[in-house]
Amino acid sequence: MPQDTVLPRPADLEEAILELKREKGAVVLAHFYQESEVQDLADVVGDSLALARAAQQIDCEMIVFCGVHFMAETAAILNPGIPVVVPDMAAGCSLADGCPPEAFKSFVAEHPGAKVLTYINASAGVKAMSDLICTSSNAVKMVAEFEGEDLIFAPDRHLARWVARETGRDDLIVWQGACIVHELFSAKGLAKLKIQHPDAEVLAHPECDQAVLDQADFIASTTGIIARAVASPNRPSIVATEDGVFHAIRKQVPEKELYQAPGMDESCECNRCPYMRLNTLEKLYDCLKNEGPRVVVPEELAKQALVPIERMLSLS
Ligand code: 13P
Ligand code: SF4
Repeated sequence: MPQDTVLPRPADLEEAILELKREKGAVVLAHFYQESEVQDLADVVGDSLALARAAQQIDCEMIVFCGVHFMAETAAILNPGIPVVVPDMAAGCSLADGCPPEAFKSFVAEHPGAKVLTYINASAGVKAMSDLICTSSNAVKMVAEFEGEDLIFAPDRHLARWVARETGRDDLIVWQGACIVHELFSAKGLAKLKIQHPDAEVLAHPECDQAVLDQADFIASTTGIIARAVASPNRPSIVATEDGVFHAIRKQVPEKELYQAPGMDESCECNRCPYMRLNTLEKLYDCLKNEGPRVVVPEELAKQALVPIERMLSLS
């Protein structure tokens, strides 16, 4: 059967998905930026690092990755013998797409001798050219591996700027990419919201613009933000993050006062990643049933990309 076949779907999709998972020996990994209903059906919900770790330790017949393409690629690289399927092959990432392997190859060649540290939000082709991978939760630690060496940091310029400040490495050679979700929070809107909720703590991702980070009390990856919000159930939080993260916080502290940091344009849903949101419950059912679409990384490329990914996991 073709992998993208749309089948008649049962009325109780949740139950049908659970049944298919059992039948196929499938494990569903989901990022915190997924719709709440998708998160609730996953076996593991996590940030980029936690999902890479889970993929490294997995034992199953099939991995269903509810996230974006580079995450599924990472799971496939870590598990050459296990099929990795995704609900929607079009769920890419503006940041990863903004750093095409050919252009990155030329960029690296312009800096002979420099080592390459790459944020996990990059294609397998870019990872294969890297010495080490990092996520936002371990980037500072990974930079320390390159003391005294010229270092390229790609592809997120905001994360690079934050890491440079935290580590004192103001000589990083930076690929000038950005994420359309993290970059689009409005510093002005945030300032207004802070005035309305003066007792709130502001939590933000390091991939946000500096004008937003300047107003933040706490800067961390998705998991760090969730843990921080949960740790103070009685204090309001204003959070500059993707909408899906609110579900994960509310599951643990339902009564907590939570405010979403506003986007640049009040009419847009800037804080919802349009790629992550392509994955729906219906498509999750279809991909389990069809066992596809499948993410395949060419063998040689996968071998090269595995080295810096495993190095990160062993250092984390
Ligand atoms: P983390 O999962 O590392 O917090 O990164 C967020 C993100 O941008 C996922 O695409
Ligand atoms: Fe890419 Fe940004 Fe979406 Fe993450 S939130 S998948 S970095 S576009």
